[in-house]
Amino acid sequence: MSSLAIASPNIALIKYWGKIDPQSPDEINIGLNPSLSMTLSQAQTKCEFTLGGDKTKILINNKEASVRDKHKVTEHVHRVAKFFSKDIRTFQVSSSNNFPQGVGLASSASAFCALTLAVLSELVGHKEAQTYLKDSEKNKILSRLARLGSGSACRSTWGGFMYWDGPFALPFHHSQKIYDTILILSKDHKKVSSREGHQLALTSPLFPIRLERLKQRTERLKEGLLKKDIRIWGPILEEEALEMHEISETSTPPVHYRSPESQQIIDIVQSLESRNFYFTLDAGPNIHFLSEKPIKPILEELLKGTNITAELWEDWTGTGPVLVSE
Ligand code: PMV
Repeated sequence: MSSLAIASPNIALIKYWGKIDPQSPDEINIGLNPSLSMTLSQAQTKCEFTLGGDKTKILINNKEASVRDKHKVTEHVHRVAKFFSKDIRTFQVSSSNNFPQGVGLASSASAFCALTLAVLSELVGHKEAQTYLKDSEKNKILSRLARLGSGSACRSTWGGFMYWDGPFALPFHHSQKIYDTILILSKDHKKVSSREGHQLALTSPLFPIRLERLKQRTERLKEGLLKKDIRIWGPILEEEALEMHEISETSTPPVHYRSPESQQIIDIVQSLESRNFYFTLDAGPNIHFLSEKPIKPILEELLKGTNITAELWEDWTGTGPVLVSE
């Protein structure tokens, strides 16, 4: 028997950037501040998990996983098994993305969410596992377990928007469809991993100021979202993304995730007299444009006025992970 789970990455509107110092293995990957995200739909990780076999085999995008990735996946599978008081010896994992890595979509979020769900399904049974996707109380367990693999994965366990404060994320009930059109300026791997970025953030003199401001910013963003008017919450999205980048750029040593091209596009966008789309960036140069309507043609037109070549990935709000019956 095997289980096939599909999950999508999420885009953070309020960023998880800086973690608490864990006092136990259960406290790893907890943000110093609450964060808020939107689960996507078009970008997906498919993960098939099978118990048993002569020896453990882990494929990522149809290739044998690197030693580092094998270690991460194995550790996570055993962690989930331990939670359900089960003992797993050998297993098979095949995980693949329909979107390229390094495009500004956190593939670790969808990958660890899908892996956690597929392992859970093998351990508790497919029918029982489905209840973890329908019951928000049970979803907390899935979210908590996924978080142990990669922090932001805890915000991919439900559709729509998710609010993460502490050990797990919870659905933030808001039903508006929002587009996320990603301007892919570079597919290079991050020079500094988000793991290091989280640690360095704390060395920025701006970090304590950020933490103080965030509570109010998050509340303003939530209110704006509930009013279903992007003109209210869009500017807050930009303020937040730029602040996260300022934190990285003022850390010791500084980290520059934005590229000159990202800055050029941001400057052009900010100089537009009126617009119906707003940007955010994760720990990379690629820009996410959030909007209530499709804006791909607008961005294509905007690019024409520059010497920048970029690809666009159009995504939008998703309904959360699924388990496929086999
Ligand atoms: O889950 P991690 O450790 O890859 O951290 C993700 C950090 C950001 O993507 C930059 C922000 C976020 O909240 O997703």
